Amino acid sequence: MAAVVWNDEYKMNDSVVDAHHRTLFKMISDLAAAISARKDEVFVYEALDAFARYCQFHFRAEEQMMESTGYPGLRDHRKEHDTLEEKARELVEMHKTGDLTLGSAVPQFFARWLSEHIAIEDRRMVQWVRIQGGALAGSGHWAFREASAKMPVSRAATPKK
Ligand SMILES: [Fe+2]
Repeated sequence: MAAVVWNDEYKMNDSVVDAHHRTLFKMISDLAAAISARKDEVFVYEALDAFARYCQFHFRAEEQMMESTGYPGLRDHRKEHDTLEEKARELVEMHKTGDLTLGSAVPQFFARWLSEHIAIEDRRMVQWVRIQGGALAGSGHWAFREASAKMPVSRAATPKK
């Protein structure tokens, strides 16, 4: 499968927002590695669940930032978050009940979604926040700092067995 990697094109030039996005790519890449290793379904589950949980924290942080700056595109942006989040949670549940064995199409789907979302929706959001004089550079917006403190940590890509 194609590599799931961070690319400088996705940079928003905000250290905290960029760190979140880099972590999302890392988590998708961890998931792809766990799937291709095909050794441990628990490891695949944990990678998928960590990604789904990280998305929740990250998306809420973006939504709080958009709310606090009166972003006019909030509704549509949130809709995109909700769709991805529902998809990720649905896959987590299906995997948990044994109804699903993940293939490489899943991380590819997440990576494609994320790169398109960052390039269009997140870029618009960041431009708006900057115009509004919202704190983005340096230590980042408060919503991102708060979310960062609560987020799950990405696990190593190599299964233990
Ligand atoms: Fe977003």
